[in-house]
Amino acid sequence: MATVSLRKVVKRFGPLTVIPELDLEIAHNEFVVLVGPSGCGKSTTLRMIAGLEDATGGEIRIGDRVVNNVEPKYRNIAMVFQNYALYPHMTVARNISFGLRAAKLPKAEIDKKVREAAEILGLEDLLERRPAELSGGQRQRVAMGRAIVRDPQVFLFDEPLSNLDAKLRASMRVEIKRLHQKVRTTVIYVTHDQVEAMTLADRIVIMKQGVIQQIGSPLEVFQKPHNLFVATFIGSPAMNLLEGEIVAGGDGPALALGEGMVVPIPDRPGGRIEVGQKVTAGLRPEHLVADLETMSTLPDPWHLDATVTVTEPLGSEALVMLSLGGHEVTGKANSAAMPEPGHPMRLGLDLRHLHLFDPETERAIY
Ligand SMILES: Nc1ncnc2c1ncn2[C@@H]1O[C@H](COP(=O)(O)OP(=O)(O)OP(=O)(O)O)[C@@H](O)[C@H]1O
Ligand SMILES: [Mg+2]
Repeated sequence: MATVSLRKVVKRFGPLTVIPELDLEIAHNEFVVLVGPSGCGKSTTLRMIAGLEDATGGEIRIGDRVVNNVEPKYRNIAMVFQNYALYPHMTVARNISFGLRAAKLPKAEIDKKVREAAEILGLEDLLERRPAELSGGQRQRVAMGRAIVRDPQVFLFDEPLSNLDAKLRASMRVEIKRLHQKVRTTVIYVTHDQVEAMTLADRIVIMKQGVIQQIGSPLEVFQKPHNLFVATFIGSPAMNLLEGEIVAGGDGPALALGEGMVVPIPDRPGGRIEVGQKVTAGLRPEHLVADLETMSTLPDPWHLDATVTVTEPLGSEALVMLSLGGHEVTGKANSAAMPEPGHPMRLGLDLRHLHLFDPETERAIY
């Protein structure tokens, strides 16, 4: 158990500044996921916490201790990488116990730790196999076992599931969540997969070009993105964005979306909008309702005429690509009531979930 604290941490590689200045406080036992596009500095941040990279500036603490000058092996952390880096000639048991044997722990203690880790990870029956005789998911569990036996204060994961196929990724995601519930250790987990971030994290840290864009629970960052980057990065399919302008409606401000389309803007505290202001409006596909049944539950002025261009059935629901005025948007429909391509239709906009952003600063204004 430990807190992890990054204060004004800077990382430069020669002339290249990868992390301009980063502050992050992680609580005991918290599961924090760093997410962001390729090259945004996720691995670099993790490697600085692990001690595999020096911070150019700032302070890194694990627990009460400043660790900037502490060697990785004395930081009390364990790191699991994307490529599991198992020793091919060693059995599972020997792979798991490698670090303990190197540290010359008594044999009885090593055996006990390996047994416990194997039990947590469901590897009891595989201890005598070699890595080549394991599936990808089993190898990943061995790599985690090697980390667990060290009783680290902090687990660091760098894209541990990205080598696995989609189905195995989903089941390993559950394993990792279960593991965290069992061992109750601080976890910092790096991924570029926003689904992984949403499902695993207590808190998500969204990064872009070395700068934190938002920190919050999965629901917070999904429901209240602070800016356009977060709004479009989190959520799949991505939030629809429409350029528009605030106009005076009959009953308060309204949103003009071009081609005569105007929708009311529901009253909401904290909104900073003025008539005449240009805005980027955002609505997630789940709030562009293309099936008649759900649409009928929305108030009258929340409907617009659209044309269906493509439909993508996904099982119980379907994605519906629509042309709405000059805009291409994605909505969702119940598969049973899916509209036909080429057909005009009334589209329901669930405006309770409307987002408005300032197109210049890209910040949320409503
Ligand atoms: N040793 C290095 N020397 C120079 N530049 C580096 C070095 N390591 C990383 N970088 C640069 O730092 C930036 C951040 O890299 P980092 O590996 O942290 O990205 P990431 O967010 O983990 O991306 P990915 O999702 O692709 O793994 C990149 O622009 C990368 O090219
Ligand atoms: Mg990386």
